[in-house]
Amino acid sequence: MSIQKTKLLYEGKAKKIWETNDSELLISEFKDSLTAFNGEKKSQEAGKGALNNKISAELFDYLNKKGIPTHYIKMIDDTNMLHKRAQVIRIEVIVRNIAAGSLSRSLGIKEGTKLPFTLVEFDYKNDDLGDPKLNDQHCLILELVQDEAELDYLRYMARKINYFLQSFYQELNLKLVDFKLEFGRDKDGNIILIDELSPDNFRLWDANTNEKMDKDRFRQGLGGLAEAYTEVLNRIKNR
Ligand code: C5P
Repeated sequence: MSIQKTKLLYEGKAKKIWETNDSELLISEFKDSLTAFNGEKKSQEAGKGALNNKISAELFDYLNKKGIPTHYIKMIDDTNMLHKRAQVIRIEVIVRNIAAGSLSRSLGIKEGTKLPFTLVEFDYKNDDLGDPKLNDQHCLILELVQDEAELDYLRYMARKINYFLQSFYQELNLKLVDFKLEFGRDKDGNIILIDELSPDNFRLWDANTNEKMDKDRFRQGLGGLAEAYTEVLNRIKNR
């Protein structure tokens, strides 16, 4: 059976998610739109959707081979990815190796400071509330997970994924500063990695120059976003 898009399930800031003629499979269509600061800053970057789709496909494939369960099945074409349907866990799992972004702003830790250990944080996936920080009790009160063991499992998976991705990027002469992961439950109730794995959600710095190769180029008005993402993809392809 060839997989076809049937109905638009959801349109987000960077992707459209389509239902398909197979009820267990969805298609993510990566868009060229860029947003930052909870949608306050908006733009378009030609080719960004395709770059993010290709980078995500490479990273999901790599993690699948390392035994990490993910929703990824395959890339369909430049901007479309086939993946399993999952029930989204409304927690953004943020992993930080080096201080930057909101951690530097909120706690006054100088950007670029190597953290003494990998920090894993939870943000509430809720645009209306501006994705506030969550502690474990908030997660339980909001019933975002079933119990504390699931929170521990999310932290365990996040650290394991960080371990694999850090070594992956090290080979590409890139520093993995921080990133966001999302998880969901598949049809059997297993927790799997979902969403995308792209420089929209990762901070990546060149290991020699500390040049920013990620969405901070847009957030900070540095320009050259498509060029930076293309460079990341080229380094992955030449690995
Ligand atoms: O903004 P902040 O410093 O908290 O972001 C930490 C990391 O999580 C960054 O790599 C950023 O790209 C990612 N992030 C994301 N989506 C969000 C919030 C953060 O991809 N809604």
